[in-house]
Amino acid sequence: MSDKIKILEQKTNEAKLGGGKDKIEAQHKKSKLTAHERIHFLLDEGSFEEIGMLVTHRSKNFGLDKQQFLGDGVITGYGTIHGRLVYVFAQDFTVMGGSLAEAHAEKICKIMDMAMKNGAPVIGLNDSGGARIQEGVVSLGGYADIFYRNTLASGVIPQISAIMGPCAGGAVYSPALTDFIMMVENTSYMFVTGPNVVKTVTHEEVNSEELGGASTHASKSGVTHFTYANEIACIEGIKKLLSYIPQNCEEITLPTEYNTEADELRPMLNNIIPENANQPYDIREVINNVADSDSFFEVHKDYAENIVVGFARLTGKSIGIVANQPAFLAGVLDINSSKKGARFVRFCDCFNIPLLVFEDVPGFLPGTDQEWNAIITNGAKLLYAFSEATVPRITVITRKAYGGAYDVMNSKHIGADMNFAWPTAEIAVMGAKGAAEIIFKKEIQEAKNPNEKWKEKEQEYANLFANPYEAASRGYVDEVIKPEKTRIKLIRAFKMLENKVDKLPKKKHGNIPL
Ligand code: HXC
Repeated sequence: MSDKIKILEQKTNEAKLGGGKDKIEAQHKKSKLTAHERIHFLLDEGSFEEIGMLVTHRSKNFGLDKQQFLGDGVITGYGTIHGRLVYVFAQDFTVMGGSLAEAHAEKICKIMDMAMKNGAPVIGLNDSGGARIQEGVVSLGGYADIFYRNTLASGVIPQISAIMGPCAGGAVYSPALTDFIMMVENTSYMFVTGPNVVKTVTHEEVNSEELGGASTHASKSGVTHFTYANEIACIEGIKKLLSYIPQNCEEITLPTEYNTEADELRPMLNNIIPENANQPYDIREVINNVADSDSFFEVHKDYAENIVVGFARLTGKSIGIVANQPAFLAGVLDINSSKKGARFVRFCDCFNIPLLVFEDVPGFLPGTDQEWNAIITNGAKLLYAFSEATVPRITVITRKAYGGAYDVMNSKHIGADMNFAWPTAEIAVMGAKGAAEIIFKKEIQEAKNPNEKWKEKEQEYANLFANPYEAASRGYVDEVIKPEKTRIKLIRAFKMLENKVDKLPKKKHGNIPL
């Protein structure tokens, strides 16, 4: 018996060593943790149960029969984070560069299937040279098996991808199919084709970092939702993100403890909107004053900054926030901000997270660049995402709600449950100046002093529409509120909506304008 136990111990120790001491050292030299270390920091102490530690590949090609590593370059299993069940896979770069082939893919698929059956999130820690070249087409098949499961799991269980090393070729599509991507600065990159191929095909000279590093994907492409200075910070980010989201689409996020404050008034909000309607202010100040202290967790921070999205808590309960940002491009809606907003709205709706919208939007961004790159189709994504969302939805119009953007930003017409406006709200087809120029064109042209006439007509239009009262008289706005009362009103309204049941018409699935 003891001999047999010894064999097991030997195998376990061998598996734990991955590609061996030298490779572990090389990994550390690159400021990277090993797959085991990442799992150790991610999961609750002692909670990890490994599945498939003894799996090996079956290939004999190109000398692979002499390169057998227990686990085949990926560690898979389950454990808990803050007591909640999660499934995890961590690619082990020390074993053949974490390359993916038949057995490696089967291990990932196995835990994805278990996560689906048991309704718990899957976290992928990616660090891989991509398809294992020696195994040929089975590597491609393995990827496709994962992509297929990513798609089936989408909207059923949360899927989070952390990129902690290379992620190239078609391998990028598994993270892209998941809900959130996190990247580590300077040690991770993602691209479909690397710098050498780029140089051959387009003659562009670009290095890996510039082509597909963390900051590129955070600001230029929007592929990654979060970036972190190092792996530990990234792992903490995963834990934080999980605290705002439920285990699966059938559940709600468990609230954190919250002691009602005696005074929930926020007087500073009364003075946040500048006197001049064209002056910017930072919508994050509004968010931070309305949400529970320090609860705002911004998503996609450096991408399409004219819209701010993220999770927060209101009396300990998780909500998703979408807010126009007047401090960046005047909060205008454009292609990227529409896509960013739409994706976030859809995530929240998948996972029963109520939506809160702060609106201060001058309209859609004009220009050939926007039109030729399909602001029509892309703007429609946000419209579609809000319209089909069945979670509790509330809008607060802080200032401008102009044009089509008024409709798009979670108006009551597209299904918002409650719409509040501050006294500073301006709800109209367009700004007073432009409106006067169009509807009083003849009068202005024929006036003795056209400029004066224009100003007079501008004022006339502004008096009628640059306020929330016309919309409130029609019930498009449910209540005009003092800004200081925003938090109280939202707490009560979300409580009132807690048992909301809303269903979409029976269909196979909708056809969002992709
Ligand atoms: C097999 C691989 C491998 C791969 C790396 N290795 N990538 N083995 N298949 N795809 C092995 C290396 O041979 C080496 O083995 C070890 O992993 C570490 O690699 P190094 O090159 O020493 O590490 P480093 O210098 O850090 O470079 C890492 C790297 C580079 C940039 C990832 O290895 C590389 O370019 N690999 C090839 C990447 C690639 O073209 N992959 C295919 C992409 S196409 P030893 O024994 O020396 O330690 C793809 C299609 C997917 O993935 C399609 C899905 C639909």
